[in-house]
Amino acid sequence: MKKLFVMAAIFATSGCTVAKTDPLAFKTKGQSMELSMLDGREVKYTAYLNIPYVTNVEDENYQTLNFFVPEGATQKSPILLRTYVGGYMAAAAKNPSATDATGRALAEGMCVCIPGARGNNSMQGDVYTGKAPNGLLDLKAAVRYLRYNDKRMLGSAERIITDGTSAGGAMSALLGATANHPDYEPYLKAMGAAKAKDNVFASVCYCPITDLDHADMAYEWLYADLREDAATARRIGQQFDEYINGLHLRNPKTGETLTEENYMDYMKSWLLASASRFVQEGGVIPDSLGFSFYLHFPHTPGHRPGGPRLIRAKAQKTEIASEIDLDKYLPYVASVRPLKPYPAFDNLESPECELFGDVQGVPAHFTGVVSDDVKKRVRMMNPMCYIGDSKSTVAPHWYIRHGALDRDTSFPIPVNLATKLMNEGRNVDFALPWNRNHEGDYNLDDLFRWIRSIL
Ligand code: DHB
Repeated sequence: MKKLFVMAAIFATSGCTVAKTDPLAFKTKGQSMELSMLDGREVKYTAYLNIPYVTNVEDENYQTLNFFVPEGATQKSPILLRTYVGGYMAAAAKNPSATDATGRALAEGMCVCIPGARGNNSMQGDVYTGKAPNGLLDLKAAVRYLRYNDKRMLGSAERIITDGTSAGGAMSALLGATANHPDYEPYLKAMGAAKAKDNVFASVCYCPITDLDHADMAYEWLYADLREDAATARRIGQQFDEYINGLHLRNPKTGETLTEENYMDYMKSWLLASASRFVQEGGVIPDSLGFSFYLHFPHTPGHRPGGPRLIRAKAQKTEIASEIDLDKYLPYVASVRPLKPYPAFDNLESPECELFGDVQGVPAHFTGVVSDDVKKRVRMMNPMCYIGDSKSTVAPHWYIRHGALDRDTSFPIPVNLATKLMNEGRNVDFALPWNRNHEGDYNLDDLFRWIRSIL
């Protein structure tokens, strides 16, 4: 009896409890692997595969993550969390690829996490399990798993950088914008997500298809003149003016409030910046695309005419795009890939209506008059609703790209996302890269230069 008492006292003071297995504690055995990079380098890494990240797994094909640790990684190495969600469909955990940011991250010594997530096509029996916001909840649960196990795994969960393209770009934006918000808490609890936070350090968003409830009005605001029924399209587009007036965004350069009066010029300024950068890097833009340029001589004033400094000044001249005629540029965009049919998003054939559909798989409209349930789910899928909300932990660093040729959503959508983040004091690297279409993980030199700059 005395012995039992002493043992109990030892357990109590040492904090030990009867050994209970913790289903979310990282204990996966790793496998050694190698990735051949395009430049011939072999990157050695350890792969930890098929790790369930919730306790109430509903779909074992998707609710798992893979984790990869390159040789030489430490407890402090950043973690690139890459989602392959596309079309808002389910995406399984995968292996890293030499041709995208995952392989590059390993080669740069970063850990990589590739979580699976359910999507608008996920089913168990005849029930749909991945309608909104479930795919996002899965990704949040994966982040929580990394945070929960931070000490047990290499890499730092304080330095998670999310990355995705298109619907995946939207997911990356949502991970960055909605973290720790109580709206998602009951769902994550019910799924058996790890008890941890889900905020991330940075979000990389390529062509995010987001702000879905305003995407149609923004699309018609920009493209109405190219529509067969331009009058109807213009009527829808006018709703965007009201939306812009209500957003109270500010031009980050001038501080000026953005309204229907000045918004078009503001949006154009991002296209002008794109064209300027392209020509400054040696590119040529044909006049038919509607851009005007002027030559800027930075050191001309005060120089002796014909003197040696003038010659140097000439060498430093830069060409700057000063105006864009959208009546020429937008038909060019639509000539490369035809515009989406009207309405671009809230039509029952779209991936977005599938996303907001019900468990029987019936697609749902998500703009105009909708049920409270759909309204709530639409809000939970919109990062714009959470940036500036003191209950969410918005990532401090953002890298957002949307190609200047990308018509999958209209330019105001990424412009507004970037602007709202800038207005909220976040560090945002935003561009509409010239001649880029709907694609992701490009110009990795630029991306990884930026990543190094924030670390
Ligand atoms: C994607 C593309 C779209 O045009 C869209 O509406 C939704 C998703 C995608 O590629 O993920």
